Amino acid sequence: MSGRNNMKVNMAEMYVDEEIKEAAQRVLESKKYVKGEEVKAFEEEFASLCNTRYGIATNSGTSALHVAMLATGMKRGDEVIVPSHTFVATVSPLLHIGAKPVFAEVDRETYTLDPDEIRKKITDKTKAIIPVHLYGHPCDMDPVLELAREYRLKIIEDACQAHGAEYKGKRVGSIGNMACFSFFPSKNMTVAGDGGMIVTNNEDYAVKARALVNQGRMKGRKYKHDFAGFNYRMSEILAAVGRVQLKHLPEWIERRRKVAGWYNSRLDADDIVLPVEKGWAKHVYHLYVIRHKERDKLKEFLKGRGIATGIHYPLPVHLQPAMKEYAGNVRLKFTERVTEEVLSVPMHPEMKEEDVEYVANSIKEWLRK
Ligand SMILES: Cc1ncc(COP(=O)(O)O)c(C=O)c1O
Repeated sequence: MSGRNNMKVNMAEMYVDEEIKEAAQRVLESKKYVKGEEVKAFEEEFASLCNTRYGIATNSGTSALHVAMLATGMKRGDEVIVPSHTFVATVSPLLHIGAKPVFAEVDRETYTLDPDEIRKKITDKTKAIIPVHLYGHPCDMDPVLELAREYRLKIIEDACQAHGAEYKGKRVGSIGNMACFSFFPSKNMTVAGDGGMIVTNNEDYAVKARALVNQGRMKGRKYKHDFAGFNYRMSEILAAVGRVQLKHLPEWIERRRKVAGWYNSRLDADDIVLPVEKGWAKHVYHLYVIRHKERDKLKEFLKGRGIATGIHYPLPVHLQPAMKEYAGNVRLKFTERVTEEVLSVPMHPEMKEEDVEYVANSIKEWLRK
């Protein structure tokens, strides 16, 4: 069992090997730290994972979302349908654009946007939908695509937790108009720092996004700025690390799926709500999230057993102080209940079957009390 922070089982483990150290060293010694070949290669390799034509690296998942929103044409006054059961960064860049987040309820099993609930929120100001592939499970995208076609809406996939996940055999990231990923250290792959990626098959969006990330410059126009852009670039050293991590991703996904299988076979869905993998989905188990009404007591009990846990997320986005002005009096009954019940238990590719057994037995012991 792993032993850090006095915990017997940690939530996640960082991965560093010799190849990663060599990659970082190679960039350090090259003295080429930005706008070089590593970023370019990482963009191509990551786009290839997603089966998309373009990849644009950024310095975080949040900046990727901000740029994708602007590149697809979102502007002040637009309404954008978002889940509230997500990390705040799915929504916060909208506020900087002046667009209005419209919060919709999530599906009872997958915790991703419920297409029927999206339909209820569409008005003549609605311009886009941001489905989140939460915890590594894809959102049910076909009905979302249908709504987008019917009402001429853009779709930005928030795939920050779902590198390599699949919907009906298609990689997430290749389904909407644009998609965004995060390489924050806890994610299924990282760059040893903050980082992000935008992917798309649309050339116009890709060109605009690339310019926005790099001070609004179009390719080959050094001191000519076509848009008010940002410096949201990824640095070379992070891209070099990301390229090595990307090579391991398929094997890590399989191990995460195996760990989930070990949990599923030891825990009983009659006692506690377990994660679901829909028949049309390939779940990549960024998180293994269970639910129980007395979640806080279970969390405390597991802590006493040396088992780290997390809550993703304790306060829905529509109830965040930052959203007060935008959310109004909207109530989302299921989302609000879920935030009181969810508990993320340890999940990472290095977990051993005995670790899972220890966590599962501890949960069962608490349930018997
Ligand atoms: C669903 C979701 N959206 C957006 C983000 C923002 O990504 P980052 O932390 O890289 O800015 C994250 C990760 O933190 C996330 O989990």
